[in-house]
Amino acid sequence: MRFCFIVEEQYRNDPMPMVIADQLLQWGHDVDLLEPQTAVACLSDLAEQGYDAYVLKTLADGPGLSILEAAEAVGIPTINSARSIRLVRDKAVAAAFARARGLPIPPTYFVAHPRLLKQIPASEYPLVVKPSNGSSCRDIYLLNSPADLTALEIAEANDSFFLAQRYAQNTGFDIKVYVTGREVYAAIAKKSPLHSDMAEHFVPLTPEVRKLVLQVGKLFGLDIYGVDIVETPQGPAILDINDFPSFGGVPRAVVRVSEYVLHAAKRAEMQRTAHIERARQRRQALEAKKAGKTIQARPVTIAGSEKVHDDLVSCNL
Ligand SMILES: Nc1ncnc2c1ncn2[C@@H]1O[C@H](COP(=O)(O)OP(=O)(O)OP(=O)(O)O)[C@@H](O)[C@H]1O
Ligand SMILES: [Mg+2]
Repeated sequence: MRFCFIVEEQYRNDPMPMVIADQLLQWGHDVDLLEPQTAVACLSDLAEQGYDAYVLKTLADGPGLSILEAAEAVGIPTINSARSIRLVRDKAVAAAFARARGLPIPPTYFVAHPRLLKQIPASEYPLVVKPSNGSSCRDIYLLNSPADLTALEIAEANDSFFLAQRYAQNTGFDIKVYVTGREVYAAIAKKSPLHSDMAEHFVPLTPEVRKLVLQVGKLFGLDIYGVDIVETPQGPAILDINDFPSFGGVPRAVVRVSEYVLHAAKRAEMQRTAHIERARQRRQALEAKKAGKTIQARPVTIAGSEKVHDDLVSCNL
């Protein structure tokens, strides 16, 4: 198969997503790298370039998403879909969408400037204030009451907007859960910037957390993603959703994520073939009707997972 990996400048020297591109190359697939910060991308013949899928690990405000959306617009499968990335890369959008779908995410306010924080009712405290475009755990502030606002000094260097979110009472660490499709890999306890240091370790993946993260994937339409959760007295609360996370600490992550990329591209190819076949049958039936004949339309089935698996085996896996 033929893949185009869009690599944002910030990830050029990171393991993800390059290790996935390398693995696919080793398995004999074609992989091109497109670095939007260093090379122009020709948009005039995207459909003719012969890619089976575009892959993007998005960067908040990075240029990669424009190209991914362009590829999607001309009918090329993308991993993840542009819509799902749009829903998660701005935390304000993700919080509103998650709340509207009934997911357990703390009540959240959008704050265009820190001076507006005083408008938030005292009843919402303790509050966490954080940049709405993600900050890799930098600039996260915990305010116990409105009195803390006077001492708050937020770094405004990067023109961020902010979210003020009700603090989710928790056990003192984040639980990072990584998923591809319907496979939930692992739950890893990691340090929270709001709590004291701790050694990273695996924690049991509870059925409740598994169900929750799969629900997140389904509602947001994500293929490859991570969900940051904390355990609260009311059950798990979602704090963050990331498309194409690092999968840090996940055993055999490179092989498993690469297999999933192949699987998703294959599945998209088969759906496309079925779609073309359905259109052909409709045309045929219409022509037959015009000519006064009736023909029996054959139902088209999209291959199930066994078929996908067989095809993957024939992809040198
Ligand atoms: N509402 C909250 N209640 C409790 N802890 C929170 C809350 N919001 C954030 N935190 C803590 O702060 C951490 C960072 O928050 P968040 O994941 O939203 O931002 P980020 O990690 O900087 O963003 P990104 O992962 O996109 O770079 C969380 O993992 C969690 O430990
Ligand atoms: Mg986070």
